[in-house]
Amino acid sequence: AQRREVDQLLQPLRLAPRARQQVQALLQCEMERGLRQETHAQASTRMLPTYVRATPDGSERGDFLALDLGGTNFRVLLVKLRSREAGGICMVSEIYSIPPEVAQGPGSQLFDHIVECIVDFQTKQGLWGRTLPLGFTFSFPCQQKSLDQGILLNWTKGFTASGCEGKDVVELLREAVRRKNQFDLDVVAIVNDTVGTMMSCGYDDPNCEVGLIVGTGTNACYMEELRNVEAVPGAEGRMCINMEWGAFGDNGCLDEFFTHFDAQVDRVSLNPGKQRFEKLISGMYLGEIVRMVLVELVEKELLFQGRPCPALQTPGIFPTKFLSTIESDGLALRQASAVLQNLGLAASVEDALLVRKVCQVVSLRAGQLCGAALAAVAEKIRDNRGLAQLAVTVGVDGTLYKLHPHFSQHVQQTVKELAPRCTVTFLQSEDGSGKGAALVAAVACRIGAHVC
Ligand code: BG6
Ligand code: GLC
Repeated sequence: AQRREVDQLLQPLRLAPRARQQVQALLQCEMERGLRQETHAQASTRMLPTYVRATPDGSERGDFLALDLGGTNFRVLLVKLRSREAGGICMVSEIYSIPPEVAQGPGSQLFDHIVECIVDFQTKQGLWGRTLPLGFTFSFPCQQKSLDQGILLNWTKGFTASGCEGKDVVELLREAVRRKNQFDLDVVAIVNDTVGTMMSCGYDDPNCEVGLIVGTGTNACYMEELRNVEAVPGAEGRMCINMEWGAFGDNGCLDEFFTHFDAQVDRVSLNPGKQRFEKLISGMYLGEIVRMVLVELVEKELLFQGRPCPALQTPGIFPTKFLSTIESDGLALRQASAVLQNLGLAASVEDALLVRKVCQVVSLRAGQLCGAALAAVAEKIRDNRGLAQLAVTVGVDGTLYKLHPHFSQHVQQTVKELAPRCTVTFLQSEDGSGKGAALVAAVACRIGAHVC
């Protein structure tokens, strides 16, 4: 009887094959609506033009600075692009922390902090006196009118810095540099992390025309036919589109798939009602979903024999990395017990098994949703090109995708199931999206779009 009660409670978190197809079809529809001028405003996926028109061809050369803001780490990088014979790409980077009070304080303070980090990096690397072209990976939704301008539409994930939304972040960065009054910055390009990842993987695999991130947040970009991008004039060639699929469903189109656990996570988040799809999938939220389920299992006396567990009431106490540990094969159950023990929860074998099951259900759903979305993208590219069969590579990055023991399989299996006419290869990015931002800057310099 207990088993039945548990199954009932978890049932809404399971996605039937038909539901997976529905999600794919809904996203396909939202993509179309986002690309069309007439319907753009109602679409939940913004489908933002990036002004990146080609993936790298290997002939990019020069020294570049790159910034990488918006994931777990903030990085400043020096990227040296040489011919393959001369060693190819060489990178030096430094990680800096962005404390939450800076990410959530006044915008000027955030950009001053970024500039301080650049100064520190330039000093350490002996770069004073050189104004290198810079590629800025900025992993938030930006409206672009050109490669080197990006109006922040809204913050996502853990950022809420004031006075930035509606402003060009490249300009905010330049202003902070001017306040410092010590050096110059030559910003050539602002790129989303999905785009940086696609470009970075595209350097090694010319078939890489999709970028996927499943980390703190989730999102994808892909090469769209320019004729379909109504916001940008021209009919020839392609342009990379930053989908901002994290916001898929913010207009209500996914409502039937949200459970009351998801509603709870959404309600206490920094951005209620926003990034609803992201909140089902990415690292910032999966642990919280699991926590909500565990709280309810305890309330129903199905877990820990109903003993009260005050620790479980604390937001963030169950980070997503716990899912990776608990679901890892081998010593799994012992791992689960150890994690619970550390939270002060004395778990029986049954308890540990049940917690693992909850983690599995939540990460399976996340992987399947991500796979369904990716299937929609692959099918769109195939359809655009009128091909019976498409071979495409997806460049991927993000802590959840890379560190969770089963997440990537869930994604890949779902893509196979839902896009059988596409052969999708997954290529993990090794160097982060900073390298991709430098490549975008290098292409702009090469083709003369920017005088470097
Ligand atoms: C990295 C990028 O490759 O992946 C980051 O360089 C990006 O900018 C990140 O945001 C996503 O991963 P996470 O897990 O750090 O959010
Ligand atoms: C969030 C951001 C998006 C980014 C993604 C992954 O969804 O809005 O721009 O690509 O996180 O980092």
